[in-house]
Amino acid sequence: MSRYLAQIAHLEVTSPDVAASVRFYTEHFGLRVVDEVDGKVYLRAWGDYHRYSLIVAPGEEPGLAWMAWRTHSAEALEQAAASVEAHGITGTWNEGGPGHGRSYDFIGPHGHGTRLVWEMEKYQAPDELKSSWLDRPERRSDKAGAPRFFDHVTVASRAPREMAQWYSKALDLRIMAYADIDEAPITILAFLTTNEKSHDLGIVIDTSDRPGRVNHVAFWLDTHEELLIAADVLMENGIPIEYGPSMHGIGEQNFLYFREPSGLRIELNSGGYRNYLPDWEPNVWTPSTGASNIYRNSVMPQSMQESFPFAKQGTGTEEGVSDEVKQALLDPASRLGQG
Ligand SMILES: [Fe+2]
Repeated sequence: MSRYLAQIAHLEVTSPDVAASVRFYTEHFGLRVVDEVDGKVYLRAWGDYHRYSLIVAPGEEPGLAWMAWRTHSAEALEQAAASVEAHGITGTWNEGGPGHGRSYDFIGPHGHGTRLVWEMEKYQAPDELKSSWLDRPERRSDKAGAPRFFDHVTVASRAPREMAQWYSKALDLRIMAYADIDEAPITILAFLTTNEKSHDLGIVIDTSDRPGRVNHVAFWLDTHEELLIAADVLMENGIPIEYGPSMHGIGEQNFLYFREPSGLRIELNSGGYRNYLPDWEPNVWTPSTGASNIYRNSVMPQSMQESFPFAKQGTGTEEGVSDEVKQALLDPASRLGQG
């Protein structure tokens, strides 16, 4: 429903040990490698319509290199690039890469690599992977709990509301929800979407001085039962479950969080609402209203405040904020540049 963007199409993340990360994604998470080019490994889930949805690139630290958004058309790509420039940011046109055509790449107002692209190669399954379902790009994975497709990214920002408003104005994403802490009108979460789901871009508060960080990368499963099976498979194979399974208030999605070997947090989602209202007004949730955990019966692990690349100071998460982060937000003396 964005006039420019159809969907978030793929992410490029960094890992200090690409081989270990790829082993995790393929052996325990049910993704498949489709390409390896210049040290980067291109992975897909069985239901991804594009050739790949996740690129793992070598890097000193885990982090987000690019979040790539597909436009509705070649014209929409030109219009979106012009709109970005009209909103004060100048990017560069680049000649495409494996599986995608020319792109407009820019660094967002809070440091996030953002790529706009129209031409993307659709996945063509070889005969042995063709599905009986004509509309599926590939037959269902034979690994229990394998995700169907890439779903969203949640990044960290020093000011989630400000960042959300920039992406909403420049790229016409709908802002679906905010969450403030209960103690003060300080926004810790913002959720934006290009389409009918609650978010394909989440933004959590970051109290560190490192811009452009990422909190987690999320994939989708059709049913809650599959999410519980995925949790079982991961646990049984020695992958610690960081948080969940439980259910977000915002978006009404079931969630499960864990880490891949680089430390990067991965989320699995199922469920969730569909919302087609073009004039939707975002509600302002708080942790006490169940923004993150609608049951309000658990304590967020401290580890959930880590984002990537690592920094001393933490971020919020879709689970709200820890006492440590809340203290940083409420105490002006503890904030960067104040004292
Ligand atoms: Fe998420």
